[in-house]
Amino acid sequence: MAFDTGSVESCRRDFPALERTFRGRPLAYLDGPAGTQVPRQVIEAVAWYYRTCNANTHGAFVTSRESDDLIRAAREAVAAFLGAPSWREISFGANMTTLNFSLSKALARTMGPGDEVVITELDHEANRGPWLALGERGIAVREVALRTDGTLDPEDMRRKINARTRLVALGYASNALGTVNDVPLARALSREVGAWLLVDAVHYAPHFPLDVAALDADFLLCSAYKFYGPHVGVLYARPGLLADLPTDRLRTQEAAAPYRIETGTLNHAAITGVKAAVDYIASWGEGDTLRARVVSAMRGIADYEHSLAASYWDGVAALPGVTALGQGFASPLRAPTVSIAIDGVRPAEAARVLGEEGILVWDGDFYAARAIERLGLAEGGGVLRTGISMYNTREEVGRLLAGVGALLRR
Ligand SMILES: Cc1ncc(COP(=O)(O)O)c(C=O)c1O
Repeated sequence: MAFDTGSVESCRRDFPALERTFRGRPLAYLDGPAGTQVPRQVIEAVAWYYRTCNANTHGAFVTSRESDDLIRAAREAVAAFLGAPSWREISFGANMTTLNFSLSKALARTMGPGDEVVITELDHEANRGPWLALGERGIAVREVALRTDGTLDPEDMRRKINARTRLVALGYASNALGTVNDVPLARALSREVGAWLLVDAVHYAPHFPLDVAALDADFLLCSAYKFYGPHVGVLYARPGLLADLPTDRLRTQEAAAPYRIETGTLNHAAITGVKAAVDYIASWGEGDTLRARVVSAMRGIADYEHSLAASYWDGVAALPGVTALGQGFASPLRAPTVSIAIDGVRPAEAARVLGEEGILVWDGDFYAARAIERLGLAEGGGVLRTGISMYNTREEVGRLLAGVGALLRR
C-alpha cells in the first residue's frame, strides 16, 4: 500500500492524540516541525519495553540480552531509514543538539589555529552553536550568506570553502523557511578541498526519503521525535570515521563505532520506539525490504505533504497583508513548512488567537535565529510557522486559512 490522499483517514486513526478536542473542536496539529505526534504502534512499543525487558545492556541474563538485541534492531531500522550501509554507522543520543556538541568537541581536537569551519546563516542554532564555539580555539568559522529569497548564496559558498576548510556543516532543509539546501554542491566543494561534510537532516528526514550513501555525507544527524518517534537523537558517521575520533569517553566505555560517542546509559525504551517509528513509516510503503518500503512510503508522504503545503501557500500568500516567506512550491524539493508575516499582527498574538481555536502553530524563530535576524524579522517577534505532517488534512489547512483571514479583519 502506498501513502496518498486516500491513506490519511486511516493514518489518522493510528494517532491517539488526534482524538483530542479543545472547546468542542479537534486540535489541528500544524506544529510538526517542533515535534510530531506519535502513533499507537510507537506508544505500545515503548510501553512493551518497560513491561517486558527493561534492563541495562551487556548482561548475562535474558532481559539484558533482549535489550541488546532491541537496540541493535533499532540501529538496523534507522540505517534502513537513512540508507546507511549498516547498524554500525548509527549512534544514538539524547537529541541532535547534544550529539552535535559531542561531535564538535571530538572534531575540534583534530583541528587547530589556521583551520576553518563553514556553517550557514540559515541553519538552526544546533548546527551553528557547536561550531561557533570552536572560535575559542583559534579555528575560524565562516558563514554562508542567506539571500532574501530564503536560499543560501551558492557563490558565497564557493568563496567561503577553501583549502583551509576542515568541515562544512549545513542543514538539509530549513526548519524556519522550508528551503532545501544544495547539499550536493556543498559535497562537491568540500570534497575538492578534503573537508568533512556534516548534514543536519532534522527537518528533512520527516518529509523526504533520505539516502545518506548517495549524499556521500561524512556525518548526518536527525531526531526521531520529528518523524513520529520518541525523543532520541541519531548520528550517522561514515564507515570508519567515528572509530578514530577523540570523543569524550569513559575508560570503561566501548571504543568502537557506533558506541564511541554514546556516553552513559541510553534511553532503551525510547530507542525501541524509534524502531517502531521507522516500521510505522515503512508500513505505508511497498517493497521487499525495509529500505524499499521506507523509500516508497516517504515518496508518498512527500507528495501528499507537498500538495497540502502548496495549497496553504497559495491561499495564504494571496491574502492582502500577508507575506509568505522563502521559496514557493514550484519545485518538489521544498519542505512543507510555511512561515508568514502578517501586517500589524505580532506572530505571538497570531499563534495565541489561533491556539484558542485549537489550531496549533508556532511563532518566533524556532532557533533559526540568525536567519530570522538576517531577514529583518527578529524585532517583530519572528514569523508564524505552519508545518504539514502526514496526518494533516485539507480541512485543517482550510481552518487555518480562515483563522489567518479573521486575524487580518480584526
Ligand atoms: C533543523 C533542526 N536542527 C536541529 C534541531 C535540534 O534538534 P534536537 O531538538 O533533537 O536537539 C532542530 C529542532 O527543532 C531542527 O529543527
